[in-house]
Amino acid sequence: MSQRTLVLLKPDAVRRGLVGEIIGRIEKKAGWTLGALELRTLDREVLEQHYAEHVGKPFYEPLMTFMSSGPVVSLVVEGERVIEGVRALAGPTDPITAPSGSIRGDFGTITRENLIHASDSEESAEREIKIFFPGLS
Ligand code: CMP
Repeated sequence: MSQRTLVLLKPDAVRRGLVGEIIGRIEKKAGWTLGALELRTLDREVLEQHYAEHVGKPFYEPLMTFMSSGPVVSLVVEGERVIEGVRALAGPTDPITAPSGSIRGDFGTITRENLIHASDSEESAEREIKIFFPGLS
């Protein structure tokens, strides 16, 4: 089942020079392709839309500060079961418990600065793609 998903390489990934490493892992999966890609520092309005479900949580404001602290790489990835697949490559939210071999497990230590975001369902993917790439059909 071909799908598309929204992936963000967070400011920590960009600052640490891990963009090539992470996109390389995604590109190496057979048949997955990049549908869109952009580097930019996100403004509050975009982040409020993206993280609407987390408003009021204790980590919300520090997350907003972190996510606007430097450029982010946004990409759309397309291919077979890519929603489940990119989340498997990323690993669980907490990098300390994420297994070795996953992006968070290999490179992260802090839950907030966990390198990568990937949509968690087809509905989220379509909502998030519209936020980051409104011109993409
Ligand atoms: P992600 O799952 O991409 O989207 C929500 C983000 O909030 C998550 O990645 C982390 O960056 C951050 N986050 C989630 N839970 C916590 C937490 N308990 N403490 C700090 N940051 C968190």
